[in-house]
Amino acid sequence: MTKPHPDAAQLEADDAQYVMRPWTHPPGEPVIVARAKGCTIWDVHGKEYLDLTAGYFVNNAGHCHPRIAEAASRQLNEVLQVSGKHGTIPAIRLAKRLIELAPKSLHKAFFSTGGSEANEFALKLARQYTKKADVAYLENGYHGLSLGSLEVTASEKYRESAGKPLGKDNFAIPTAYCYRCKFGPAATCTVQCLDGVEAKLDAHKTAAIIAEPIQAVGGLAPPQKWWDRLDRIRKERGILLIADEIQTGLGRTGKMFACEHYGLEPEIMTGGKGLSGGVGSLGLTSASDEVARNFFGGTTPTSGGNAVSAAGGLAMIEVLLEEKLIENAANMGRYFTEAAWALKDPWIGDVRFTGLLGGIELVSDRESRAVLGKAEVSKVKDHLHASGMLITLSGMHGNVLRLQPPLSVTSAQLDTFLAQLRKTLDAVRAGKA
Ligand SMILES: Cc1ncc(COP(=O)(O)O)c(C=O)c1O
Repeated sequence: MTKPHPDAAQLEADDAQYVMRPWTHPPGEPVIVARAKGCTIWDVHGKEYLDLTAGYFVNNAGHCHPRIAEAASRQLNEVLQVSGKHGTIPAIRLAKRLIELAPKSLHKAFFSTGGSEANEFALKLARQYTKKADVAYLENGYHGLSLGSLEVTASEKYRESAGKPLGKDNFAIPTAYCYRCKFGPAATCTVQCLDGVEAKLDAHKTAAIIAEPIQAVGGLAPPQKWWDRLDRIRKERGILLIADEIQTGLGRTGKMFACEHYGLEPEIMTGGKGLSGGVGSLGLTSASDEVARNFFGGTTPTSGGNAVSAAGGLAMIEVLLEEKLIENAANMGRYFTEAAWALKDPWIGDVRFTGLLGGIELVSDRESRAVLGKAEVSKVKDHLHASGMLITLSGMHGNVLRLQPPLSVTSAQLDTFLAQLRKTLDAVRAGKA
């Protein structure tokens, strides 16, 4: 607990009156954050939270890292924003650094202002290069909520929110949800879930497949053979791969980019979230030389590649590397997995982490894997929240506790969370929450 802000009540009232929010899950949300440092945030009432959302998976180096703040404030006195026809020192340096670190199939970077926009430019670029219009996306895939990126986001709830039905040119292909595989145990897997995918791709004029290497919604990491098969199928047809690394990138999965886990070499890769180090917002659409030659994006978005954001992003990348936060993500993911299983809780059906991407899937029965009811899942989240644990819910069935703290998180902080989770699960089960 720190000192409450003198205007706390007024700020909350003004938020309710003036701010239009895409989604919140009351009670307890929205949290009006007054201060943040490392893995901790404090709201306007002075209440402290352990932030297992990293500010929606942005602050990979921790909130308000001094080196990021310093780099951004130095840039504030140099140059802020120039026309997209021109360049700035940090934006050029960030482009170079990202291409050095990205899969070697990528050679050029285009900056926009956020993840959805980065994907829209990726879709446009794939069409420009292939002269084809259709794009395949994975079931359960999330690529943003603006109208173009919604075309390749799977969730019906989000798609319906657009009012008019979306186009039929883009289409879904199966994802790899191995915990709930319809085809039997892992030992018998021959990637049957991809049977028939060739026919689907061939029935369209398919320009590209857009996919996260590891699906962030529910933390679904396909087996190597799944990616090998899909990658072979799409290469045989000259279909581009757009790897969406908006959430998986920048160390989150224990590698700089999640493509590295599978040896993927996409022709187009997108990024966002932590790309600015949390200073403003940046989107990245990167491409191979050959694909990039066909790019026409105009000079918008006006604020793409803002110099202060680029300086923040560059500083974050250096912090991730120098403070070995990517290795820490890999180690803490393993620690979290073992410690969560060690709770031996009857509602913990699966624990899935790749680095610090993933979470815990809650079930009412471990044998049948029946999804834990919505009411109980909400109570778990609310009880955690009231106890100072900031998390989000995720997954195809909304029953995954998505636990993605800054990559600087310590085992002691994860222990604090798990001790609270144990109490919370017991309390909800006993009807005391
Ligand atoms: C994988 C993925 N793609 C795209 C987006 C959209 O990014 P933004 O919200 O910055 O538009 C997100 C955001 O959560 C994401 O996780």
